Order: sequence, then C-alpha cells, then structure tokens
Amino acid sequence: MKLLPDFLARPPKQWTRRDVLKLSAASVTTLGLGVLGYGCAIRQSVELSRVEVKIPNLPSAFDGLTIAHLTDIHHGIYTNFEYIDRCVQIVNGLQPDVIALTGDFTYGGKRYVEPCAEALSQLRARVGVYAVLGNHDYYVGASSVALALKRAGVTVMIDQLDRLELRGERLWLAGVDDFYYGTTDLHRLLRDVPRDGARVVLSHNPDFIEEFAAKNEHADLMISGHTHGGQIRFPWAGAPHIVSPYGQQYAAGLNRKDAMQVYTSRGLGTILLPTRVDCPPEIVLFTLRS
Ligand SMILES: [Fe+2]
Repeated sequence: MKLLPDFLARPPKQWTRRDVLKLSAASVTTLGLGVLGYGCAIRQSVELSRVEVKIPNLPSAFDGLTIAHLTDIHHGIYTNFEYIDRCVQIVNGLQPDVIALTGDFTYGGKRYVEPCAEALSQLRARVGVYAVLGNHDYYVGASSVALALKRAGVTVMIDQLDRLELRGERLWLAGVDDFYYGTTDLHRLLRDVPRDGARVVLSHNPDFIEEFAAKNEHADLMISGHTHGGQIRFPWAGAPHIVSPYGQQYAAGLNRKDAMQVYTSRGLGTILLPTRVDCPPEIVLFTLRS
C-alpha cells in the first residue's frame, strides 16, 4: 500500500558543493541586479552640497561669493530634459553670484546638444554663467556644443580668462580646455594673473591639477567633474572604477594637491549604465571665504 506521494517518500537531497556554489551565484546575481535596479530608480535624486572653501589670498570684497556648480549633465538616452530643468530651477533658487558648468553636456548623440542648451538658457546668476567643455563634448563636436551654449547666454571659457572686479578688488576666473582633447598652454593662459592673485579654475577633469603642479602654476580652487564619483560605490571599498590614473585621489569631494584645492562633483547624469549606487547626483554651492 502506498502511503506517501513519491516526492515525500524520497530521502532528503544531499547538497553537493556544486549545488551550494550554484545557489550562491544565483543569490549574488539576484542581489546585484536588485541593487542596480534600485540605483536606476533613484539615479536622479539629486543632492545639494554646500561647500565653504577657504582661499587665504581672496580679496575681502569676494568673501562670501557663491558659485553654483553643475557638471556631467549628459542629457541623452539616460538623462531627460525634465530632470535637467528641475536642476536648473534648484540652482536658480540658490540665487548664486556665479554659475559654473564643467562639461559633458550630452550622452548618446548630437541631437541632445540644442535641448540641453535650451534648458541651461534658463540659468540666472548675478555675475554670469560660465562653462568649459569635457571629453564627451568632443565626441559630439566641441564647436557645436560651444556655439549652442553661447546662444544660450553662457560664456564658454576654452582656455580663457575673466577678471571679476568688485570694489576695486579682483578675482581671476580661468577655464581650461579638456585635459585629453585640448592643447592648453597654462603659462600663456595665466600670464596676466599676478602671482598672488586669487584664482578659481574651471576644468572638466580634476587630473588637470597635476598639470598645474608639473608646470609650476597655481589654482586656489579648481572646480571639476568627469569622474561621476565612480557612479557605483561600495561601502568601505569605494568606487571600483574611476576614470583616472590617480585612482581615488580626485574621485569626489574636496581634495588637495600641494597648496591647491580641487573639488570633484559627482555630477548629474550617468553613462554606460543608467544607475547610481551609493553615489547620488550632486549640485554644489561653493561659498568662498578669505
Ligand atoms: Fe561625464
């Protein structure tokens, strides 16, 4: 007489090492996909970082000057117009003195250049809106990106210098070309700046600070993007991939090279994968202090 169905009558399965490995691999894959999926859902939860930067030689007239910073917007296949527009409104709400845009405006084709510039045309700052270009701008055509930005009322600083004047005092604002694709002559760019003049430099790539050091030039503050902070970071281990020969050194936040300070923003958009893990997008509001 049959008392139990076959599957209950069978002796319990003996787990082999192979079974355990298979189950572990499946669990890790499922967990990984879940984390990436969550990162995709929250990849546009932008954070505002308020950063005070001390510049000892900053003229007193510029003490308290604010610079709002947007970078690596990457309007395109993963980053839509509405999100950029929302970031523009956040920046305008901060009522900054200066707005700095440090390159990589699109991702996925030339057709995103004009819409991105259209969104940025709404930016408002007391002194002005300044931009430099990044490597992705060269991929779609640096001149077309620069032209679209100029039409949008942005001052494009490809190896250019601007002198801000307030109550008879000066602050020097310089923009360098992309580190990989440009041909910046730092000595020529900075030749009119007095050695003790306070200098803020816009550079897409934070590694440019090494070039300043190698050429014995100086930046009090370099404002950069490019790394996206790694885009995917792990607690305690940091980002497994940073597009820099200096690894984690300039991956994110405020860092130093000798007496120079360089801030690397995590940026707004994403590339390769539409996800951010433990690395939210960032708008920065700098306040300069003497
Ligand atoms: Fe980028």
